Amino acid sequence: INIPQFQEDLITWFESEQRILPWRENQDPYRVWVSEIMLQQTKVDTVIPYFQNFMKHFPNLEALANADQQDVLKAWEGLGYYSRARNLQSAVQEVVELYDADVPNDPKQLGDLKGVGPYTKGAILSIAFDQPEPAVDGNVMRVLSRILRIEEDIAKQKTRNTFESVVRELISQDNPSAFNQGMMELGALICTPKSPSCLLCPVQAHCVAYRDGVEQTLPIKKKK
Ligand code: ADE
Repeated sequence: INIPQFQEDLITWFESEQRILPWRENQDPYRVWVSEIMLQQTKVDTVIPYFQNFMKHFPNLEALANADQQDVLKAWEGLGYYSRARNLQSAVQEVVELYDADVPNDPKQLGDLKGVGPYTKGAILSIAFDQPEPAVDGNVMRVLSRILRIEEDIAKQKTRNTFESVVRELISQDNPSAFNQGMMELGALICTPKSPSCLLCPVQAHCVAYRDGVEQTLPIKKKK
């Protein structure tokens, strides 16, 4: 793979075709954080109105830290996985106490916050702080498994680690935010699970699975 060409093709496409989404209005780490937590188990179209409402009620970190937990859960009602909301509020309270209400840009400090796993950490570091860190979720594993024809079981933790190493090699140092979001956007709009739109794909020329005609067989996910 020609890495600079791949980065350019992906980022140029992302800059011109990305969806207008409320959490893309700015790089506020708090907004990026809330959006990434909401998006973890929930689809974009469902998240949009919840995100807007959440920001109306809790516009910044301090507002969320000081809020009544019942009001936070009320704003989360319908999204499910309520531990996400409880953990988010706990973590935001930690940030107020420990870091004077500034979301840390240090990977260790960020990863130690409640509910901030490797994916959320990488998403915040790259999107809000422009750091070249991987943000690997299921969509990114699907896209990369096809581009590089990686035939490992994505249900395994070891495979996730492999994908993080791969992203560290591929990610644009100039625009890690557009690179990671471009991967997510490609997974959402083009490189979909069932019938990927390879003929419209901005990185088709780099895709080993497309070349070999095996895109529909990837990623490999074995039942446990
Ligand atoms: N899925 C996870 N994170 C996302 C983001 N920032 N934009 C769109 N879809 C996403």
